[in-house]
Formats: sequence, structure tokens, C-alpha cells
Amino acid sequence: MLDFIGSHLAVTAVCAIALTYAPGPPGHSMIWGHLKIMGSIMQDVPARVHPHVIPLRIKEKYNIETDYFYLDVWPLADPMLHVFDPDVAQQVTVDLALPKHSTMADFMIHLAGPGDMVSSNGPHWKKWRTIMNPGFAASHLISLVPGIVDDSLIFCQRMVEHAEKGEIFRLEENATRLTVDIIGKVTMDLKLNTQSAPNEMVTAFREQVQLVPNEGMLDPLAMWRPKGIYKRWRNGRVMNRYIGKVLDERFARADNIAGRPVGERKQRKRVMIDLALDAYQSQQSGGEAEKAQVNTNPPQMDAEFRRAAITQIRTFVFAGHDTTSSTICYALYMLQKNPECMARIRQEHDENLGGVESAPQLIKDDPHILKKLDYTMCVVRETLRLWPAAGAVRGGLPGVMIRDPKTGESYPTENFLVWVPHYALHRNPNVWGDSANTFDPSRFLAQNESKLPENGYRPFEKGQRNCIGQELALIEARIILALTVRSFEFQAAYDSLDEPKDDGSYYADERWRKGKQDLDGEEAYQILVGSAKPREGMPTRVKVRL
Ligand code: HEM
Ligand SMILES: *[C@@H]1O[C@H](CO)[C@@H](O)[C@H](O)[C@H]1NC(C)=O
Ligand SMILES: *[C@@H]1O[C@H](CO)[C@@H](O)[C@H](O)[C@H]1NC(C)=O
Repeated sequence: MLDFIGSHLAVTAVCAIALTYAPGPPGHSMIWGHLKIMGSIMQDVPARVHPHVIPLRIKEKYNIETDYFYLDVWPLADPMLHVFDPDVAQQVTVDLALPKHSTMADFMIHLAGPGDMVSSNGPHWKKWRTIMNPGFAASHLISLVPGIVDDSLIFCQRMVEHAEKGEIFRLEENATRLTVDIIGKVTMDLKLNTQSAPNEMVTAFREQVQLVPNEGMLDPLAMWRPKGIYKRWRNGRVMNRYIGKVLDERFARADNIAGRPVGERKQRKRVMIDLALDAYQSQQSGGEAEKAQVNTNPPQMDAEFRRAAITQIRTFVFAGHDTTSSTICYALYMLQKNPECMARIRQEHDENLGGVESAPQLIKDDPHILKKLDYTMCVVRETLRLWPAAGAVRGGLPGVMIRDPKTGESYPTENFLVWVPHYALHRNPNVWGDSANTFDPSRFLAQNESKLPENGYRPFEKGQRNCIGQELALIEARIILALTVRSFEFQAAYDSLDEPKDDGSYYADERWRKGKQDLDGEEAYQILVGSAKPREGMPTRVKVRL
């Protein structure tokens, strides 16, 4: 503990210099940092709100002129540089390409294992990004469309069942099962069928995201409770075993394929697990993977490779389902709240997809039809602007400075956790004007594109560390909207929070039912559980239309 405080004072001494002349709220104390300021801001917001709503509130309350500022909230988190200025955000993730901050690894290790692709840096990251990239090629993604349509139809069936029972349910629970099923096919060519029956790996994942430093801001000791330590270990084992088994089965198959003519091997699907195995096999045969090898002995997979491959697949399962399911929930929510937008998206589907009954087959037969759904894409983009599922976290470096776009003044990054909260950037009135908080998909129409603020929209980030799965997420979201908005009428039901019976474990805690329950009147505010998710899983009523 003394060590901890000692290192804090050392860091604070360095940071204090920056904190005295760089932009930030007033009244920084050598001992308390800006903790008092955080405390006063937290009084006005619900206890569980995602921290990405805080920066704009600090700026407003303390009249900070710049759209970036320094904040010292140790011991809740490292001293931070908040960035919601488009130009400075571009410097951080693209021009300076700052590395991922070490807290990302502390968080991801529980979900994915050591050395995952989201939090790692340098050659290790590069290696895995290169291996996995072909799995996200446009031509490959389009081949996944029929499978995504099938999974979405099961989701629609679930909605019909809810409608028949007339019950209130947590939309995010059902949406998550859908996106997990999709990601299972994409990463492992595996039918997880989590929409139809419970699945041990998914259950482990769902529990694990609650046991990582989410509310670290509120409860720094949470990570040290023995029960949590045990559960994290057990969940990790469940996930590793499950994926390891699939990997081993694939390995046996892949080895068979290696004995076949090259032409046939190229036919293999580009699911993640095969890409990882291909990379491994070409490494093994010293770059001569194309040479046919017929192996008579049962093959052995290098243990280290096996571990690393499991980690990357766990990374995709995590990064690929959570974010997308929240986006779907919010898109349906914003459409309910904006009837003109709902009318317009339905009209687009009427014009391009034929009747409700025939639409699924039409999309399967001609996946490129999705490209015609311009307004649908705008709805998804606008949803991601107002309700971004993630953000960017980087680590500062010695001698690396950000530059104020107006004054040209430079400020240090060293010793700071550099945070680009997309929520704050996407709702910054200096960037988006008076309509910053208004849902208006038309701003993303092609004819309006030139009016979009440069570098001001980055839900998937930009630069080399941008989201590898963004095209997939956009395909999923469009398909699900195409198959739901004309068939159903959704209605959020935050007024009946106690009713939903399929209580997800996220919501069991009574702590969150106390105190303020809305953010400036918005009930469906985002909370942090792994990624930014709708509070309480978005309790919803659904009716069948037509
Ligand atoms: C709406 C859905 C999604 C959103 C909003 C989103 C957002 C993001 C953001 C902002 C980053 C950069 C984080 C940073 O800079 O610190 C990122 C990275 C990443 N995302 Fe996504 N994502 C989504 C869907 C997906 C999907 C479907 C997959 C996988 C199948 C995926 C896999 C990843 C991976 C592996 C990275 C790390 C890439 C790297 O560092 O090279 N994401 N995502
Ligand atoms: C999703 O919807 C169905 C209703 O058909 C329900 O029975 C199911 O338990 C829901 N939740 C999950 C987590 O699958
Ligand atoms: C986008 O363009 C359309 C017509 O071209 C216009 O009606 C609409 O108001 C524009 N929206 C924005 C936000 O510029």
C-alpha cells in the first residue's frame, strides 16, 4: 500500500506540472487530485451510468474552454487526458498512433487471456491482426449473409413469442444471444444455438464481463474478493475448454485437408479458427504450406500456439457480440422515439425488399441488396453516433505531445491514460452544433456527407487500431433492422422494471435501483458492463404488426 502511494506521489509530481498549466478543472490537490470534482459531478447522474457521459459535464460545469482536458482521479484510475476534440482525437489514434494503455490488458485478460488482439501492442498485435484480416474481407463477409438471415429469423420468432405472451422482456438479452450465434458461425463455423438453449460458454462470458474492472471507478476493491477471483478462474477455464475442443477438432480436419490438392484447400471457409490454423501450418512447414503433406501420426498442436489462438477467438467472441447487440437495441429504441424516421425506414424496406414474408429469401439470394438500403445504413450510423458502444484508450509516451488545434500549444501525454470517449465527441456541440443530441439519420445521407465534421465521427475508431469487425457489425445491424422494423412495434418499458422475469444476472443487484434513475430525462442511458450497454437490458414490450 505504501508502495502504491509512493508511486502515486511520484507520478502526481510529474503530472502536477502538466496539471498546473494544461487545461483541466480548477482546484487540483496534490493528495486528492480532482476527486472532489468527480464526487460533485457524480451526484447529478445515476450511480451506474457509463463514465463516458462525464467529460462533457465537467467541461460545462467548470467552463473548460478546450475540448480536451487533464483529470487526476487517482486512486480510482490513472491520471487521465480526456479528448473529445476531433482534431486531437485524430492525433491520438492516427497521427501519433499511441499504444494501448496497460489497463486495457488488465481488463481483457479475464475475458480473452493474455496477449489478446484488442489490448496488445507491437509485433504481437501486428501478427494476429495480419492473420485475422482475411476473415473480414468484404467478399467473405457477404458470403455470411444467408447464415445471418437465418439467425435473425430465429430472433424474430423469439419476438413473436414475447408478443403472444404480452410480457415485458429485456431486449438486450435476446439480442445478445442473436449476435453470439452469429459470431459463433463467423469465428468457429459453429452453430451455438444460444437462442434456443443455454450454452456454457456464453453463460461464462456473461458472468465474466461483470467480474472485470467495470465499476472500478466506484469500488476499487471489487477485483480482490476471493469469490470473484475463483469465479473468474472457473469461467476462464470453461471458455478455454469449449474453444479448445473446437480448435482441436478443426486441427484434425485441417490436417486432412493439408493432404489434398492445393485447389481444394482454397475452398475452405475463411472462419477465424481456420485462418489461425493456416497461419500455424505455414509456420510449421517453414513457409512451404502449399506442399502436400500426408501425416500418418496423429498431429500435435504447439501448446503455445493453441493458447494464443484460443485467446484471439475469445477476443472476437467478446468484441463481436456485446457491441453489436447494444447497437441493435438502441437502433430499435431510437426508431420508436422518432416515428418519422420509423416511417421512412419502413418505406425504404417496402420499396426494396418486397413483402415482409419474402424479404429474408430476397436478401439471402442477393446479399448485395443491402447496399440499396441507404436510409437503414444512416439509421445505424446515427445510432452509433448517439450510443457508441466503445471508445479509445491509449497510453501516453515520453516526449510525445498533443497539439492544440487553435493555439498550436503542445501538451504532454507521458504518464497519462489518454481517453477518447466517443460519446462525448459524438455529442459535443462544438462539433455537431445545436442538433448534437438530436436523432437525425439524414445527416449521413450521401448528399449531406460533406457537411459531417471532419474526424468528429469515430464509433469504430480510425487508424491502424480501428475496429476489425466494423463491416460485419454494419451488415448484421442492417439485416436485423430489415427483418424486424416492418414486422414489429417495439416499446421500451422502463416504467415496469420489476416485471421482466428472464432476469439477466446483470440486473440482479438492488444497489442500482436506488437513487437517480435517469440521465437528464433519459431512462435508457448506457451502463458499463464490458462495453456500453442499455441500462437494465432495455425492458421492452413488443407487438406484431400487420
Ligand atoms: C457496433 C459494433 C462495434 C463497435 C461500436 C466496435 C467498436 C470498436 C472500437 C471503437 C475499437 C477500437 C478500440 C480502441 O481504439 O481502443 C474496436 C476494436 C476492435 N473490434 Fe470492434 N466494434 C464493434 C463490433 C465488432 C465486431 C463484430 C468484432 C469482431 C468480429 C469486433 C472486433 C474488434 C477487434 C478485434 C478490435 C481490436 C482491433 C485491433 O486493435 O487491431 N468489433 N471496436
Ligand atoms: C429470449 O426470448 C424468448 C422468448 O421467446 C425467451 O423464452 C428467452 O428465454 C429469451 N432470453 C434469452 C436469454 O434467450
Ligand atoms: C440531408 O439532406 C436532405 C435532402 O437532401 C435534407 O432534407 C436534410 O435536411 C439534410 N439533413 C441534414 C442534417 O443536413
